[in-house]
Amino acid sequence: MKLHKVLSVVGARPNFIKLKPIHDAIKKDLNHEIIHTGQHYDYRMSEIFFKEFKLPDPDYNLEIGSLSPGVQVGEMIKKIEKILTQNNYDLVLVYGDTNSTFAGAFAAAKANIRVAHIESGLRSFDRRMPEELNRILTDDISQYLFTSTETSFRNLKRENVFGKIYKSGDLSVEIIDEAKKLALNSKITKDMNLTPKNYVICTMHRAENTESDASFISLIKAFTNLSEFQIVFPIHPRTEKILKIKGIYQKLKSCENVLLISPMGYIDFIHLVNNASKVITDSGGLQKESYLLSVPCITIRRNTEWTETITEGWNVLTDTNTEKIVTAVKKWVPENRTPNPIFGDGYTSNTIKKILLNEILC
Ligand code: UD1
Ligand code: UDP
Repeated sequence: MKLHKVLSVVGARPNFIKLKPIHDAIKKDLNHEIIHTGQHYDYRMSEIFFKEFKLPDPDYNLEIGSLSPGVQVGEMIKKIEKILTQNNYDLVLVYGDTNSTFAGAFAAAKANIRVAHIESGLRSFDRRMPEELNRILTDDISQYLFTSTETSFRNLKRENVFGKIYKSGDLSVEIIDEAKKLALNSKITKDMNLTPKNYVICTMHRAENTESDASFISLIKAFTNLSEFQIVFPIHPRTEKILKIKGIYQKLKSCENVLLISPMGYIDFIHLVNNASKVITDSGGLQKESYLLSVPCITIRRNTEWTETITEGWNVLTDTNTEKIVTAVKKWVPENRTPNPIFGDGYTSNTIKKILLNEILC
């Protein structure tokens, strides 16, 4: 029997992580090809995830690299369109909210190929965020919308989108379960001489924070006021580059309680998060992962699309306000957890596969 031909378009770290369970779920039943746009290209931002997750090499690497947003998306669309015209794909899958997500969806929509958006319907309601535009535009041109949470489902209903909306749950539940098992062998805390529950993990890369000197200065001030806390900071290349240009990198490096390290592979990173006392972050994925690992999360943003983690009491928004960050690290203790499957039942990839096979591609 001839299998349906499905194309995934990925390009940035969070896309690769979401690709893993979907690829594993559909690889036997569908002819699955992968385009890597090349948006992320450093070994530790890209290849390491394909290796750790035993994902096949992408069928195409567009090698787009770092460009201004409009040019980056434009180049991606141009190259994706060419591949679409040379193949007969039945469906294009896109994941999350990166420029690669939108470019994949737009190229497919223009080529009259159906698009399914995984992790759709999320809204921070802050249109200054490049990701918010990617989310809205991608949702608008997708025929099939797989939502992670009740709120994202309701957002799409309210927007009266053209595509069909499915409640699939979020892929992170199964990803974290798998990563936790693999992380049992991780020696990273030992190698880094870290005592479990005695350090805080920090990540920061969001444009709204990295474009502002004040955000960096506030965060560094918070670290200085938290001198009794060990902070482990795997630094995103965007953040490192901007800190160096702004001449602030040395200031951060000289904080004695801050351990600045390179971006990490997923398994060691999840091991570090699982053993941290708290997380400070502006990452979307990490807010979910902290929740799933029961590690209190301090989100250095003014808003979040993962609102359930806030209402459940395991995530607080502090923006980059020094005082709020310091108080949250020192004093905030979340209430005991009531089990609430806000991200679904942990079988999201299988749910999506069944919908693809039985409803969309039949
Ligand atoms: C992108 C996504 C963001 C996601 C993040 C995950 C968009 C609009 N943003 O942001 O939603 O949270 O990925 O990590 O798509 N760089 C390197 N090496 C790399 C990749 C990037 O040095 O492998 C540097 C370059 O200087 C580049 C900068 O990081 O200009 C920003 O990269 P880009 O992919 O444009 O955005 P991210 O901040 O990574
Ligand atoms: N992550 C990782 N290594 C790191 C930092 C983050 O593997 O050094 C993972 C993190 O667990 C998350 C994913 O990368 O699931 C994507 O996070 P990122 O902050 O890059 O993007 P976002 O989720 O904000 O779009």
